[in-house]
Order: sequence, then structure tokens, then C-alpha cells
Amino acid sequence: MTSLSIKPRPAPLPEASLRQATLADVAGMEQLMAPFVATGDLLPRSNYDLCRHIKEYVVAVAPDGAIVGTGSLKVYSTTLAEVAGLAVRDDQQGRGVGKSLVEALLVDAHALGLHEVFGLTRKPLFFLRLGFRVVEKEQFPLKVWADCARCPRQHACDEVAVALTL
Ligand SMILES: CC(C)(COP(=O)(O)OP(=O)(O)OC[C@H]1O[C@@H](n2cnc3c(N)ncnc32)[C@H](O)[C@@H]1OP(=O)(O)O)[C@@H](O)C(=O)NCCC(=O)NCCS
Repeated sequence: MTSLSIKPRPAPLPEASLRQATLADVAGMEQLMAPFVATGDLLPRSNYDLCRHIKEYVVAVAPDGAIVGTGSLKVYSTTLAEVAGLAVRDDQQGRGVGKSLVEALLVDAHALGLHEVFGLTRKPLFFLRLGFRVVEKEQFPLKVWADCARCPRQHACDEVAVALTL
């Protein structure tokens, strides 16, 4: 007898699952972010800053418990938030982990009642793939005041602002 072969739907994260970050993840998050801070793709974050804002972060966790991805939603006002601190471990890139992290943050953004989410990035194409559009950085003065003003590269910034209206 021939049986019907039903192609299983691929899981969005074949080797990692997403969840809210906890304080026990902080060391793994620091380890994950360090190489991207070194290349200038991520702003540095202190241990204190990660602990203070841990509720803003989601993490992708491999079956062995390692943190292979992270990202956060930084709320600026009743309508606006930033997708920040987004990183996927080198060997897990290109498998949909980054996309799943941003999608999870957008679910949070919707639930909070935000109207717009933005990002400042050297990887605008990744965000464009997810429906973001390129916008003027000056549109986000609170961000410029909070982070750009103390960034060593503020006068030679190669980051592109992207935004998504919810
Ligand atoms: C940018 C980053 C988070 C993407 O994560 P990822 O898990 O590799 O991305 P995904 O596999 O989810 O890719 C989702 C889509 O974006 C595309 N994409 C991913 N990175 C891209 C890039 N650098 N340029 C262009 N497109 C990219 C993928 O091809 C995929 O497209 P598809 O849906 O049409 O197949 C990851 O490369 C990373 O951590 N980079 C270093 C840190 C960094 O730059 N962070 C961003 C700071 S804002």
C-alpha cells in the first residue's frame, strides 16, 4: 500500500528556540555580542546595562543551551521603539534566526501598542527584507541624543536608519 507522503513544514528555527532573556543569559549574551562590538556592528553594552534592561531582550537558544542570537526592543515613547542589540552567532547566520528574533520583537511592539519601530544598522538589506524602509536618521532625535552623541564614530557614521510602521 502506498502511503501519502506529507512534506513536514520546516520549523522556523531548526536548531534554536526563542524565548525571553533572563539574567542567567547575560554572560552568554556578552560572549555572543563581543565579536560584533569589536567589528563596530554593535554598540558596546556593559553588564550593568544588560542586567538593567534584560526585560527588553529575547534570545535564541541552541539545544546545548548556548545563546546563539539576541535582540532587544528599546522603547523611546508611547509610539516609538528601536530594534537594538541584534546579533546572531556566526555559525548560525543565514538560517532565519535573525528574522525570527526581529519578528518576535515586532510581536512585542504590537502588543505594547507602538506605532513605529526603527533601527540604526550597517546591515540595511537585512531589515529591508523584513519590510523596513530606509529613513533619515534625524527623524529620531531621542536616539541621536541617547546613543549617537557618545558614539566615537558620530562624525563618520556609516549606519543607515530603517523604520517600519506597525
Ligand atoms: C544581521 C544579522 C542579525 C542577520 O541575522 P541572520 O540570522 O543571519 O539573518 P536571517 O537568516 O534571519 O536572514 C533573513 C533574511 O535577511 C537576509 N539577510 C541576512 N543578512 C543579510 C545581510 N547582511 N545583507 C543582506 N541580506 C541579509 C537573508 O538572506 C534572509 O533573506 P530571505 O528571507 O529572503 O531568505 C546577523 O548577520 C548578525 O548578527 N550580524 C552581525 C551583527 C549585526 O550586524 N547586527 C545588526 C545590528 S543592527
